[in-house]
Amino acid sequence: MHNLDIVIMAAGKGTRMKSALPKVLHTLAGRPLLGHVLAAASALQPRSVVAITGHGATEVEAATQAMVGAGAAFALKFARQEPQLGTGHAVQQAVPLLPDEGTTLILNGDVPLIGSATLQAVLDACAGAQPVLLTVEFADPTGYGRIVRNAAGDAVLAIVEHKDATPAQRSIRECYSGIMAVPTAMLKRWLGQLTNTNSQGEYYLTDVVQHAVADGVQVLAYKITDTVQVDGVNSPVQLAALERAYQLRHAHALMEQGVRLADPARLDVRGELLCAQDVAIDVSCIFEGQVSLGQGVRIGANCVIANARIDAGAVIHPFTHIDGERLGVQVGPGALVGPFARLRPGAQLGEGVHIGNFVEVKNATLAKGAKANHLAYLGDATVGERVNYGAGSITANYDGANKHRTVIEADVHVGSNSVLVAPVTIGAGATVGAGSVVAKDVPPGKLAVARARQVNMGNWQRPEKKLL
Ligand code: UD1
Ligand code: CA
Repeated sequence: MHNLDIVIMAAGKGTRMKSALPKVLHTLAGRPLLGHVLAAASALQPRSVVAITGHGATEVEAATQAMVGAGAAFALKFARQEPQLGTGHAVQQAVPLLPDEGTTLILNGDVPLIGSATLQAVLDACAGAQPVLLTVEFADPTGYGRIVRNAAGDAVLAIVEHKDATPAQRSIRECYSGIMAVPTAMLKRWLGQLTNTNSQGEYYLTDVVQHAVADGVQVLAYKITDTVQVDGVNSPVQLAALERAYQLRHAHALMEQGVRLADPARLDVRGELLCAQDVAIDVSCIFEGQVSLGQGVRIGANCVIANARIDAGAVIHPFTHIDGERLGVQVGPGALVGPFARLRPGAQLGEGVHIGNFVEVKNATLAKGAKANHLAYLGDATVGERVNYGAGSITANYDGANKHRTVIEADVHVGSNSVLVAPVTIGAGATVGAGSVVAKDVPPGKLAVARARQVNMGNWQRPEKKLL
């Protein structure tokens, strides 16, 4: 919408979080609460987004700027609210930044799961002409502002804060969600009329409703039943509850797509998980950042997988940790990884590669059919097809100052417990004898043995225990 401006309230202290981190920067599903709200806001294609900051303003503004990024299609603005005298006072700080012509949508920085479709419905009802409140029925409305409707029930007369409500008003279960859309010129007029003569001595944003009614402007309510969308985060307990609600929703959406989850209550997706057909995920797995799982991929229990692409038919056995960070990790079709494997940034496994228990791979490419099955390290290495990398072998890739590369060509067999001191190349088809320290290149097809020769001594007596 070309004339939509969005105000996000994020100045509150969040006292009940009992944290040094400003509340809106606490994360849900791996993303700051404010990041979720910004994503919903941005989906509405506003002209501008104004964040009201106060508590931890510098930190909140820097984080907001970073989350929005340079290429945003809307103007990002900040208004400081010092001191914090209530929600009406908060929005008053944005007034100089809001053009009269257009609509203002007010969001809360601590209500992360609001859906952009719901917000669009509120804006559609507003149609640039009429104030619309997003409301919800709570089984327990304690603490919320109550929606007082007219006799016909089709318009709102007032929002009464819990602390100011009469017993009859407290029995109303329809509550204000904290979200409203108002034609901006009207909003400015009514904000100018707010007073703080109430039980909390605050300037309530919710009082704009009374001023609208006094001006003869009808106020509408758009009521939803999905409370998760308007649940706020005020404490660690609420944050954890909302995290579980989010994760369960996500798990159900995956299952609707055909993903088989051993237990939807034991899955955490902190980012984006893309699944092809017939993916199966066992219990207690965590996915972070961007992860894609190809057709028929199976993920064993207790895996943590971040920023990785896992191709069709690959199997990740239990307790495997994959973290691609910025470089990413790729696991080729039909590869077998784990249990207890660790794939770090830049690990690229080709088709049918096997990585077994306690094997660490970093910034290394393994071509089709290569195997490292036990207790090994492959860092800064290029490994050819069908290489067999023995148990306990490592690439010594770091000389204390710089990293160097190890090249292991096709069909090489590296015997157990070898150290390949980079930079070094093992030529195609060569063999490295077990226990070797290889510091010089090995020509193709040769056997390299780089260890002390075995001596069998006869003239030797095993010590015996002395009796006292
Ligand atoms: C507010 C509504 C209430 C509604 C509830 C929904 C008012 C007066 N009441 O109550 O009707 O049912 O939200 O959750 O608006 N904030 C500022 N500056 C301030 C005060 C608050 O930026 O001076 C921010 C907070 O950081 C928060 C939001 O505004 O993001 C809401 O403030 P909060 O104090 O939680 O309002 P409630 O009392 O919950
Ligand atoms: Ca609140």
